[in-house]
Amino acid sequence: MHICSKLENIFIFAGSGLNSRQIAQNIAGIMGLPYIELSTRVFPDSEILVRIPVEKVDVKEKHIIYVQSTAPKWETKRTTQSMWIPQSQSLMELFLTLDTIKEKKAKTIDVVIPYLAHARQDKEFRKGEVVSTRAIAKILKCLGADRIFTVDIHAHRETGWFFFGQTKDFPGVKAYNITAARALAEYVRDNLKIQSPIVIIPDEGHRPIAEKIKDILEPEDVVFLYKKRLSPTEVKLLHVKKIDLKGKNVVIFDDMISTGRTIAKAAMFAKKNGAKNVVVAVTHTLYIKDARSTLLKAGVDRIVATDTVPSEDSVVPIAPIIAKALREIIF
Ligand code: R5P
Repeated sequence: MHICSKLENIFIFAGSGLNSRQIAQNIAGIMGLPYIELSTRVFPDSEILVRIPVEKVDVKEKHIIYVQSTAPKWETKRTTQSMWIPQSQSLMELFLTLDTIKEKKAKTIDVVIPYLAHARQDKEFRKGEVVSTRAIAKILKCLGADRIFTVDIHAHRETGWFFFGQTKDFPGVKAYNITAARALAEYVRDNLKIQSPIVIIPDEGHRPIAEKIKDILEPEDVVFLYKKRLSPTEVKLLHVKKIDLKGKNVVIFDDMISTGRTIAKAAMFAKKNGAKNVVVAVTHTLYIKDARSTLLKAGVDRIVATDTVPSEDSVVPIAPIIAKALREIIF
């Protein structure tokens, strides 16, 4: 049986994380569910105060779908200069809110996190390092999250159910990874009129993307690159064989652009080998510092992205994709 059997008992809550309200409102509109905006105040020392408008909704016994993205953002304050809000602040807001929803005795809590921060450190790459995904999953579980819904999470490359943060000593928290890869591929095919390109996947770990977009773009070939991260802002491509891309359309797929260094290397590789046109299709455009201009300088002709982290390249809205997944899973 579905856990949410009565439509009138489901509410969409929106936190203040980057684009969360816009995405939540659109999901609510598409699904015909009530939208409740939580109020969030940030004090000068960065402490956060969230309030659920209890006069509008009694949380007890309700099914709550709480949307809170955790991307970093710039915020313009009336009294101060623009402020850089780190992703840890949205995570903190998420934890505080979740605890309150649970304490108010919601029946179920589904947390939608369009961009889930700290998902790249999903194992102890060097002995002694933290495993961020496990730590975050433990907190989410302990605070009462029944299920997590997220989009193209780095920690898990397949679409569908998985246990977020699972390690051999911790079962993880039930999570569903939604992919935007197919919608991005459709955009490239329908709006850029690109068919049968050479697809480049710069992070070997993202092999599953190739399968997801195969029937849409019908690539002539798929090239996987192997990379080594030398530092947070330096990336080196390994064992790159020369290939002939003369006159070809190239589409580079990845989950995110942070500093842009990974995709810049892939674009340079494509151009050096003769590519005519280089399009980048990516889910999350974090665009840290000069990331976007780095990509353009590297030869990228066009970037196509979703609005999980809104940017001038966000042409694929994520709300309908999330709403579709929620509808199929919850109803
Ligand atoms: C990582 O391994 C991801 O798939 C991305 O390739 C990476 O996070 C992008 O980071 P950056 O833009 O800083 O190279």
